[in-house]
Amino acid sequence: MRVWWRGRAGVCHPLVWAGLLLLMGVMGAFTSTNEAKRREPKWWRIAKVADPSNLISNHIKSNSLSDHDLDPAIRLILRRKQRRLVRDNPGVLVAIAKGARTAVHECQHQFRNRRWNCSTSVFVNGKTLFGKIVTKACREVAFLYALTSAAVTHTVTRACTEGTIDSCNCDYRAKGPSGMDWEWGGCSDNIDFGNKFARLFVDAGMKGRDPRFPIDLHNNEVGRLHVKDNMRKECKCHGMSGSCTVKTCWWRLPYFRRVGDALKDRFDGASRVLVKNLGSPRTPNDRRPNRRRKSRRRRRKSFRLFRPYNPDHKPPSKKDLVYLEESPDFCVRNQQLGIIGTRGRECNKTSIGVDGCDLMCCGREYHTQVVEVEERCSCTFQWCCVVKCKTCKYMKTIHTCS
Ligand SMILES: *[C@@H]1O[C@H](CO)[C@@H](O)[C@H](O)[C@H]1NC(C)=O
Ligand SMILES: *[C@@H]1O[C@H](CO)[C@@H](O)[C@H](O)[C@H]1NC(C)=O
Repeated sequence: MRVWWRGRAGVCHPLVWAGLLLLMGVMGAFTSTNEAKRREPKWWRIAKVADPSNLISNHIKSNSLSDHDLDPAIRLILRRKQRRLVRDNPGVLVAIAKGARTAVHECQHQFRNRRWNCSTSVFVNGKTLFGKIVTKACREVAFLYALTSAAVTHTVTRACTEGTIDSCNCDYRAKGPSGMDWEWGGCSDNIDFGNKFARLFVDAGMKGRDPRFPIDLHNNEVGRLHVKDNMRKECKCHGMSGSCTVKTCWWRLPYFRRVGDALKDRFDGASRVLVKNLGSPRTPNDRRPNRRRKSRRRRRKSFRLFRPYNPDHKPPSKKDLVYLEESPDFCVRNQQLGIIGTRGRECNKTSIGVDGCDLMCCGREYHTQVVEVEERCSCTFQWCCVVKCKTCKYMKTIHTCS
């Protein structure tokens, strides 16, 4: 560049340099704002802004949703493609809202004893669900992507069976060969629809050169895979007085807790990776339908894009969570990353795990208090049909990090 300018102007005029510096400044600012703008997918916020039971009554009132009927707060957090999907599949918004809430609930259960407890508190950031931690491509964030994607797959599939989405039903197609004493029959949970819908909805807009996109897309797919792979066979006996001469079976969704447990295991064994530089990885583009097939195939194999950060480790499989950078320690309050820190957290004095006081309090002191707790106890069943309990009070020793 300098050569060109010299050839042209003979000498480097100070104005030219000033211009160059300005240009570099602008480019720098551009990349850093890009960085700052990287945050959680907006639709996650539906867990905060939409109450599924209100949505249900709205849906009943309007029967079908046009863009216009969407609650403005919801319209604001959905991309155009997502709004179209919601419009084309009346009833699905309720399932998505339930999914987002399920994900929050499950995350808080799985991480209840960890330094980062999946907090969605106001401190974190009123405008987002999980807060700024999502700007980091760490393990916890990989888990969040997989879990939210799995939850939407799960609730949409369940809603198909319940008949609350106009565009899907449960699945009557028989699958595979039957067994010796049973055959396929009845109404299976329509995981194919749930998966397909979640892929369109959850993955929407994740395209571009940012190395985060292949990571996020992969983790989304890991979530969906764990729902599908944990489907269970449920059977029913027919025949004279339950003799079970004929048995029919169908596919049922797993309990979501099971999916959460499986993803938590993947969290523990997640792979830190580098994204191979393949120029600009092409991700699906709606406006070029002829390219869709190819890019979809490419995406399914997205895990081939990753190289283990530690060359001695195995490359990640398609069911492994992947992440790019180590997690912060979550020990102390960090406004910039939306971390609350572990001050005030309860810890277990005798545990040597992450819930133990040493690890939870990051080597800091902890307070010990004896508190009175109330609990329902001595419950009896009274004919008919109430359960009556007493309230018991007892003293309990608790430890909290200082
Ligand atoms: C997470 O920990 C904070 C204290 O750091 C606490 O106030 C909050 O209730 C916890 N959240 C959950 C969901 O357990
Ligand atoms: C504390 O940790 C110990 C050892 O892991 C465990 O047996 C105990 O149930 C824990 N207590 C609570 C209150 O979780």
